[in-house]
Amino acid sequence: MNKKNNAPIGIFDSGFGGLTVMSAVTKLMPKENIIYFGDTAHVPYGSKSKDVVTNFTLKISKFLVQNNVKLIVVACNTASAFSLSALKKNIKIPIIGVIKAGSKTAVLNTKNNKVAVIGTEGTVKSNAYTNEIKKINKNIKVFSQACPLFVPLVEEGWFNSPITDDVIKFYLKNIINKKVDTLILGCTHYPLIKKSIQKNIGNKIKIIDSATAVAYEVKDLLIKNNLLNNTKSNGKYSFYVSDSPDKFKTIGSKFFCKEIKTVKKMEIN
Ligand code: DGL
Repeated sequence: MNKKNNAPIGIFDSGFGGLTVMSAVTKLMPKENIIYFGDTAHVPYGSKSKDVVTNFTLKISKFLVQNNVKLIVVACNTASAFSLSALKKNIKIPIIGVIKAGSKTAVLNTKNNKVAVIGTEGTVKSNAYTNEIKKINKNIKVFSQACPLFVPLVEEGWFNSPITDDVIKFYLKNIINKKVDTLILGCTHYPLIKKSIQKNIGNKIKIIDSATAVAYEVKDLLIKNNLLNNTKSNGKYSFYVSDSPDKFKTIGSKFFCKEIKTVKKMEIN
C-alpha cells in the first residue's frame, strides 16, 4: 500500500444531492476518507449553461486536487452531462460521473425496452442518458422529462408534502402514458423524494437510483488503480460548501442519513 491509498476520495455536487452518492460510497467502502464539496452558492446547476457549470466544476475539482484527493466522483448528473469530458482533460487523477452507472442499471432492468429519465433541464437537454443507453442497446426507447421544481423542493426538505405530490403528478403524467417499465432518477437530489415518486407512478414502474451502482464503479476504479484504502480504521469525512454552512448541516444530515457536525465554507468564484 502506498501513501496515495490513504488519500481521500473527492465527491461534489451543486448542493446536497451528491450526499446520496456519498452515503452509498461509505456503505460499500467504510474505510475510505472522503472530502465532500457542495456548491451551495451556485445551486441549481440544472438551469445554467454548460460553460458556466463547467467553469464551477473545474474550480471545485482543482480545490479537491489541492487537498490531495486520489479520485473524484462528479456526484451530479448535470455536471456529469455537461463537464465530465472537460474535467477528464484538465484533471490528472481518475474521475467518474454518474450517468453511465444509471444507464447500465436501467438497460439491465427494462423488459419492454421503454425507459424514462427524469432530471434537470440541463441533463435532459444534453441527451446524455439517451446517448449512453442507445450505446448499450439501440432498440430501447428513451423518454425524458425535465423536472426543474424538484431540486428546490428537495433543497427545502419538502420530501413528503401535498405540494410535492402535485408537482410530481404534473411532471410525470406524460411519462406514465408512455407505458415505461423503468424510470431513472437522473438527478442525485431525487432519491430523497423516491417514495413520493413511487407512490404517484405506481409499483409497476421500477425506479433506478444510481447511487449504489456508482459506488460499485468507484470501488472498481480504485481497485484497478491500486488505490483502495486497506487501513483498519473507519474513514474520516470533511464537508465544504460555497455558501453558509448552517443549512447544510441540518438538511445535509437527512440526505446523508447521519449527523453532519462540521461544515467549512470555501468560496469558489
Ligand atoms: N444534483 C444535481 C444533479 O444530479 C443537480 C441539481 C441542480 O443543481 O440543478 O443533476
